[in-house]
Amino acid sequence: MSTLIAYGTKYGFTRTCAGILAKKLDGKVDVCDLRSKQPDLTQYDKVIIGGSIYAGKIRKPVMRFCSDNLDTLKGKKLGLFICGMAKEEDAQKQLDSSFPADLLAVCAAKGFFGGECNYEKMNFLEMFIMKKITGSKQSQSKVAEDNITRFAGLMR
Ligand SMILES: Cc1cc2nc3c(=O)[nH]c(=O)nc-3n(C[C@H](O)[C@H](O)[C@H](O)COP(=O)(O)O)c2cc1C
Repeated sequence: MSTLIAYGTKYGFTRTCAGILAKKLDGKVDVCDLRSKQPDLTQYDKVIIGGSIYAGKIRKPVMRFCSDNLDTLKGKKLGLFICGMAKEEDAQKQLDSSFPADLLAVCAAKGFFGGECNYEKMNFLEMFIMKKITGSKQSQSKVAEDNITRFAGLMR
């Protein structure tokens, strides 16, 4: 049983979460950054797709990957996750608006894996927006480890 984790990231937090998830899954797991590669889905029984949220939207390569492969993805054991700085209760809504309804309806696992706010990596506008979202001037990083563990269990 081979699993693909395909992700979209801007600053790398989603890649970190994909790596943590990969270690919790059984069998062969490939991790793919959708910005640099389009994976061959015929090789995988299970596909996990994740991305970070910016201004309420998931990264563009993730959106494109889902719409370009919609029918193929519906035939796989599918998992969907997001990363972001929203509160857990808002994250659920963001997740439901980030992926096509057809995929949300058939997926085996949905998850919110936490978020990172690193002011050192951001430009001025991004810093301004993040201060509004988090209400804090401090950089912070929180991997939702329990959510990743639960998600991995559902993908077994
Ligand atoms: C300009 C900007 C807008 C953001 N908008 C959202 C948002 O709408 N919802 C959210 O949950 N997080 C938002 N975030 C937080 C990112 O999703 C978070 O930093 C995430 O961990 C980034 O992951 P990445 O490094 O994989 O791109 C925003 C961050 C920035 C810099």
